[in-house]
Amino acid sequence: MYLDFIKMVNFRNYRQHQVYFHPAFNFLVGNNAQGKTNLIEAIYYLAVGKSHRTKTDRELIRWNSDFFYVRGDVKVGDSPKSIEIGVNKNGKIIRINGIELKKKEELLGNLSVVLFSPEELKLVKEGPSYRRKFIDEEIIQIKPSYFYILSNYNKILTQRNALLKEIGLRNRKKDTLDVWDKQLAQYGAKMIFHRNAFTKKLSILSRLMHRKITSGGEELGIKYSSCIEIGDCQDLKEMEEQLLTNLKNKRDDDIKFGTSSFGPHREDLEISINGIDARKFGSQGQQRTAALSMKLSELELVKGETGEYPVLLLDDVMSELDPLRQTYLVENLQNVQVFVTCTALSGIIKKRFTEGKVFGVDSGIITVVDI
Ligand SMILES: Nc1ncnc2c1ncn2[C@@H]1O[C@H](COP(=O)(O)OP(=O)(O)O)[C@@H](O)[C@H]1O
Ligand SMILES: [Mg+2]
Repeated sequence: MYLDFIKMVNFRNYRQHQVYFHPAFNFLVGNNAQGKTNLIEAIYYLAVGKSHRTKTDRELIRWNSDFFYVRGDVKVGDSPKSIEIGVNKNGKIIRINGIELKKKEELLGNLSVVLFSPEELKLVKEGPSYRRKFIDEEIIQIKPSYFYILSNYNKILTQRNALLKEIGLRNRKKDTLDVWDKQLAQYGAKMIFHRNAFTKKLSILSRLMHRKITSGGEELGIKYSSCIEIGDCQDLKEMEEQLLTNLKNKRDDDIKFGTSSFGPHREDLEISINGIDARKFGSQGQQRTAALSMKLSELELVKGETGEYPVLLLDDVMSELDPLRQTYLVENLQNVQVFVTCTALSGIIKKRFTEGKVFGVDSGIITVVDI
């Protein structure tokens, strides 16, 4: 699939702008603060229905305006799709091929994107929350209904935490927690089930990807470090029971500290390079390459599940990668539409890429540039 066309009205620093893209590479070149990431954000917004930079849609509305509108035309097989999203002070409207969606989540899957930005470069290096966010977002791409599991889990977790504090402060009965524990275990088991299945696939694909990117020099290992003992268990009921037992065991401590110390919200991925913990001992270059392998294998994962490659968005990362990885990217992403932002085209890019367009981005104006 690829994004053929975008129209933005009052989106960030774009007043009214439309662009046709290339099905292969699209380089967006410009100085800082000209609107490169804003365009990436608009594409991401069309795919996911929210920004990757802010939770507040209003921030995306051009200053001194009262609405924004973005439209993207996606080419996929022989059934092109037009996605339109409008936001004003009353809320958000999403239309696919002119028909308004009843549920916002129905947007997912119409345009799939994989975003790799400086934030994702930290995937290996930073704390577990980065990796949890990564797996959860990936699973949603492949299985949109995971969104509901995740948001229900988080709602229940918030309620359980509030109750823990209340029990601690006001001496309420502990067994009022029973109903929350049960629900938390139900949704938690589903999360673990999906995370486990996903990580198994991810681990195989990213090991292959990493071998390619490092020309066979490094072996990447990814392991799901769950809060329960999974082993070969595929049984939701059994996972649920393990969770429930642990929640009960931790209950007194949880009341003391006013927070839930156990569950999938505390899990992590263990990432190793040649058998050694990449987070603790990997060099910055190794950590970045491992992050790149993980994100690129997502392209294959989505392709495997949906039959279509997603669109790859590389925001501000080209210059952070060494020449070998840059060359790899430019030469090996056949059949994938790629958006790359940078302040200048590197020698490698100029020399190696063959199919694509170069755009200049200057104060919210995008123009096609010849190189
Ligand atoms: N809601 C908005 N309305 C108008 N301009 C905005 C809005 N939000 C951000 N901007 C402007 O967008 C520019 C940043 O664009 P961005 O795409 O992040 O830059 P870059 O080209 O460096 O990626 C800044 O000049 C900022 O002032
Ligand atoms: Mg930027």
